[in-house]
Amino acid sequence: MKTHVITADPERYEESCLSGAADLLKAGELVAFPTETVYGLGADGTNDTAVKKIFEAKGRPQNNPLILHFSNVSECSEFAECDDRFYALADAFMPGPLTVVLPSKGICAPSVTAGLDSVAVRVPVHPVARSLIKACGKPIAAPSANLSGRPSPTTADHVIKDLDGKVGIIIDGGACTVGLESTIVKLDKDKATLLRPGGITLEMLRAVLGEVAVAPEVLSPPEPGAVPLSPGMLLKHYSPKAPLYLVRSEKHEKRAEFFRESALCGENAVICFEGDAPASKNVFYLGTREDEAEHARRLFDLLRLADEGGAKRIYAPMPSGDGIGLALQNRMLRAAAFRIKDI
Ligand code: TXA
Ligand code: MG
Repeated sequence: MKTHVITADPERYEESCLSGAADLLKAGELVAFPTETVYGLGADGTNDTAVKKIFEAKGRPQNNPLILHFSNVSECSEFAECDDRFYALADAFMPGPLTVVLPSKGICAPSVTAGLDSVAVRVPVHPVARSLIKACGKPIAAPSANLSGRPSPTTADHVIKDLDGKVGIIIDGGACTVGLESTIVKLDKDKATLLRPGGITLEMLRAVLGEVAVAPEVLSPPEPGAVPLSPGMLLKHYSPKAPLYLVRSEKHEKRAEFFRESALCGENAVICFEGDAPASKNVFYLGTREDEAEHARRLFDLLRLADEGGAKRIYAPMPSGDGIGLALQNRMLRAAAFRIKDI
């Protein structure tokens, strides 16, 4: 299949430039599109044949359900049982980087929910994503637009590297502003559970919902044989080809010294903060130490760059675990297959 790349600058695109992509979706084909979190690989969420193509293009296991993307909150209730807690979250954070898992009404294509009786709904804030969904006229089912197991794509270039020839159109809407996938919260009758941390932090969710439990697989490897609450939370994920080690130390200076020394060996790639190690082709900067939002924006790109340089091993700092740091920690622990180096 020939893949066409079209550009839609979020600041000044014409809606008409998305009509070809919307037609392709209506015809049951795949379109990769930008969102504020990561790029998505979309199909008409009511067309099961189309949705199945997503699993094939990504090499994604059939039992891992997809998120349904809507252009407006008001459309969600056709597909999901939306209660007051959902609308409270929607008022506070939608459109935005939040996904809510609710009881499904069984209207969407069966492959979207992979046999579960719940469905994940999200209203992205990226204008190009919302225009595309509106033009399609149906909710768009979309996972991240990477090959299964690779870091999620935060630029159109990442999508091209993973999916060229497997998708009809890739819409280039620039770099993603959050850089990590959406926060996922599940609303059961009697409780709310954080399944995946993201740009909407645990603290922000608790401010609206009160008590929010954290699924055990957010920060621990799943117990052998245990069924994770979210099927996508497998042990190894978002992974670069070279093994990644998360470096943890009480003292920042000690860790910086470790990065500096590690960077002297060309077989290592070092992902660190500005000022930790001198610039070199195997050193990749997350940003200044305090700015975890910037670390989130850059992380997946840096994991890919470290890999492309042919590193034998990659070192990166263990994140804080507070605010967006919890999402960084969750993604980095998975990318590292829970390998931590205490120094
Ligand atoms: O930011 C995002 O959420 C991006 C953009 C494209 O919107 N999408 C994304 O999709 O990250 P994906 O498929 O890479 O991750 C979705 C996660 C998976 O871990 C999946 O198991 C979980 O959501 N999920 C989907 N439906 C679910 C459900 N009904 N119950 C529990 N987990 C669900
Ligand atoms: Mg994904």
